[in-house]
Amino acid sequence: MPNPSVLMTSVGAYLPERIVTNKDLSEFVETDDEWIRQRTGITQRHIVAEGELTSDMAREAALRAMSRIGLTGADIDLIIVATTTPDDTFPSTAVKIQHQLGAKGAIAFDVQAVCAGFVYALDIADAMLRTGRGKRALVIGAESFSKILDWNDRSTCVLFGDGSGAVILEVAELDDNPDGWGVRSSVLHADGEHRDILYVDGGPSSTSGVGHVRMEGNKVFRHAVEKLASVMDEALAAANMTVANVDWLVPHQANIRIIDGMQKKMNLSSDRVVRTVDKHANTSAASIPLALSVAVEDGRIKNGDVIAFEAIGGGLVWGAALVKFGRP
Ligand code: UT7
Repeated sequence: MPNPSVLMTSVGAYLPERIVTNKDLSEFVETDDEWIRQRTGITQRHIVAEGELTSDMAREAALRAMSRIGLTGADIDLIIVATTTPDDTFPSTAVKIQHQLGAKGAIAFDVQAVCAGFVYALDIADAMLRTGRGKRALVIGAESFSKILDWNDRSTCVLFGDGSGAVILEVAELDDNPDGWGVRSSVLHADGEHRDILYVDGGPSSTSGVGHVRMEGNKVFRHAVEKLASVMDEALAAANMTVANVDWLVPHQANIRIIDGMQKKMNLSSDRVVRTVDKHANTSAASIPLALSVAVEDGRIKNGDVIAFEAIGGGLVWGAALVKFGRP
């Protein structure tokens, strides 16, 4: 019997035009370029323009991913937007862009798993396509994180940025799929016990407001490499692979020290890791597809390369996935 595979056939991304440097921040909050660079690796971030919405960025990334392989909205059956910063409480950002893209009839919903949102959405879309809920999916990470930052809190406001990235997943009936194209495995976890080390202090049912990001960064940091390394081991085992099969690590971009820590734990050479945190900062659910897009566009990641994704975010929630990129 043919084995349905879910291929990752395209990627696109969008960054707002406005760049805010570390020096720009140091003009209104007590910080400096050296601290930010040394502790995080960040040198700048992109911030949305007045009136520019999460859905605008999500739509633009989706259009770029679709146009790379000649698709239109009519070709899309499923849209999942991973976001913590939707335009409105409802309808979802996904439904909004379903209409704007002309993906009439497509299933559309948002996923809220903060910085792990992309790996959560990827897992869900893969499962839905495998079980016959459509042929093509758009999986998008899009965030206007600047809208939920306390710009007086130097311990958080220097860390984040805005942006979006999108991938296209397609079902293919590959007989036996001998080379294992597409999504090979994904593993997700959550542990609400750690809520208080990274959360937003508001929301519809608690405050009727939006709230701001609150984080005990050093406590989150301590969980990060340990949990990411362990979930990566699980994802490798589930895919029947070892690190030797991995061509690229495309990690969530929160902190260069976490990324370097994962590189060492996995024993990957440095040039096999995609790093964009310096230019994008932490764009939460958007950071992985944004980084993927950069490395595909500049020719580093090629058709057939095996990519390892991993992310951790507020909750805590975390996960990892392995994908052989492109199509046979
Ligand atoms: O994507 C979701 C997951 N999030 C993460 O993965 C974030 C994980 N955490 C981190 O990336 C790091 O913990 C941070 C970058 C947030 C902080 O780095 P750290 O090495 O853990 O520093 P710290 O929080 O222990 O703070 C060290 C010092 C403190 O001063 P004292 O108490 O030692 O005098 C802070 O007040 O740095 C101070 N500080 C700053 N100084 C200048 C905190 N923020 C700043 C700042 N500029 N922006």
